[in-house]
Amino acid sequence: MSTLAKPPAELTLDDLEIREGLEGLTPARIMTLYRRAPLLRPVSDPERIWTMFESASLVLTAWNGNQIVGIARVLTDGVLFSYLCDLAVEPDVQRLGVGKRLINEVLDRCKGTELVLRDSNISAGYYAYLGFKRVENAWVRKAT
Ligand SMILES: CC(C)(COP(=O)(O)OP(=O)(O)OC[C@H]1O[C@@H](n2cnc3c(N)ncnc32)[C@H](O)[C@@H]1OP(=O)(O)O)[C@@H](O)C(=O)NCCC(=O)NCCS
Repeated sequence: MSTLAKPPAELTLDDLEIREGLEGLTPARIMTLYRRAPLLRPVSDPERIWTMFESASLVLTAWNGNQIVGIARVLTDGVLFSYLCDLAVEPDVQRLGVGKRLINEVLDRCKGTELVLRDSNISAGYYAYLGFKRVENAWVRKAT
């Protein structure tokens, strides 16, 4: 794969490389993608961002040359539950199938588990479209 990024208008899914792990990632790159996507995360706190990634069970990234255009971060026990903590795609390449590709890669690596996530106002329709079912019995409490 060339390290030259293709212009978004010419980009197809086949041009993208999917990588597993933290190689090539930095807090700054993650924060830039989250700001641009946008995804509400602690984007002014590089240490916290990096801890989120170092503690993850699975990190997948989509690359256009040397540019990160998508990120998925998962916590999983490997047998029962997986939590898709973050999914973000660079706005220039949204609606090209990058998010769907990352989710399919996550599902493939977390086979046998139930993939759980929290949506946002802009992404609720997206997960329904991708075959996720809304559950009524989820509860959240912040540990303080
Ligand atoms: C939500 C997000 C990850 C989707 O990624 P994406 O790469 O743009 O989406 P995809 O191209 O994989 O979309 C796959 C399909 O879902 C559809 N879709 C995309 N966004 C959608 C939405 N908000 N509602 C309904 N359908 C949607 C696409 O049209 C596409 O349909 P097709 O397969 O028939 O062409 C991306 O828009 C994003 O990063 N948003 C900001 C951050 C965010 O909200 N993240 C999720 C928080 S939980």
